[in-house]
Amino acid sequence: MSQQQVSGGRQSLGFGLGLRTTHYEDVIENRPPVDWFEIISENYMVAGGKPLHFLDRIRADYPMVMHGVSLSVGSTAPLDRDYLQRLKTLAGRVQPEWISDHLCWTGVAGKNMHDLLPLPYTEEAIEHVAERVRQVQDCLGRQILLENVSSYVTWRGSQVHEWEFLTAIAEAADCLLLVDVNNIYVSSQNHSFDPLAYLDALPAHRVRQFHLAGHSHNGELIIDTHDHPVPDPVWSLYAEAVSRFGEVATMIERDADIPPLAELLDELEEARRISGQTLEAAA
Ligand SMILES: [Fe+2]
Repeated sequence: MSQQQVSGGRQSLGFGLGLRTTHYEDVIENRPPVDWFEIISENYMVAGGKPLHFLDRIRADYPMVMHGVSLSVGSTAPLDRDYLQRLKTLAGRVQPEWISDHLCWTGVAGKNMHDLLPLPYTEEAIEHVAERVRQVQDCLGRQILLENVSSYVTWRGSQVHEWEFLTAIAEAADCLLLVDVNNIYVSSQNHSFDPLAYLDALPAHRVRQFHLAGHSHNGELIIDTHDHPVPDPVWSLYAEAVSRFGEVATMIERDADIPPLAELLDELEEARRISGQTLEAAA
């Protein structure tokens, strides 16, 4: 693992990939040059079976981080204590560098929408979500990373920009950030805001991870499909993010049309190149 010093004394975990089932054998047999893997927590919150078998084998060779999709920290439904306990149990097994989930809600009143839905950016929601993040952190006994989601609609009642909302929650809850560069780009196109204003507003000392991904164009909207290589505008925005936040753990996030591992390794190499070039230019 290459841990490199970045500003503020933080260590970057380096360059990682999302662990996907189709790559299990390849990873075990060939030990690819990946600094770490991110797992989807829910895929391993089970009592036994093959996923845990592969998880343990790969964890023996690589650092890992855990990324969840079900916390629903923005919902008004009570926090799912059983889910949190199972998440904590998995963390005990994996010993991840960190645990992340999304700044969103996924359902209410017992209904799960199976989607990462945006919140109204209001003072009331800031207080509500920050309190819940604090409860989650108390339960897990560690800070969590919150990830910005992409969105296609906004709430009429919003009082502040998304970046102000995310920052206020991170400060109030004292949590860390997973900055999804593609999500910022997608939302900036869908809602006509300046993605650089978003990056400028984030507290650099809280940024621990970047996600990079591709998306799809669907008429007037850009959809966060994670089924394409990282496109040029997202690479450009990544360079802007590196210039603001220094070297931060970076990951290629592919969830559909998953290519052979070699293709993702090429993309990861491009991330290394852009990060290195940006940091060199700033030195
Ligand atoms: Fe993401």
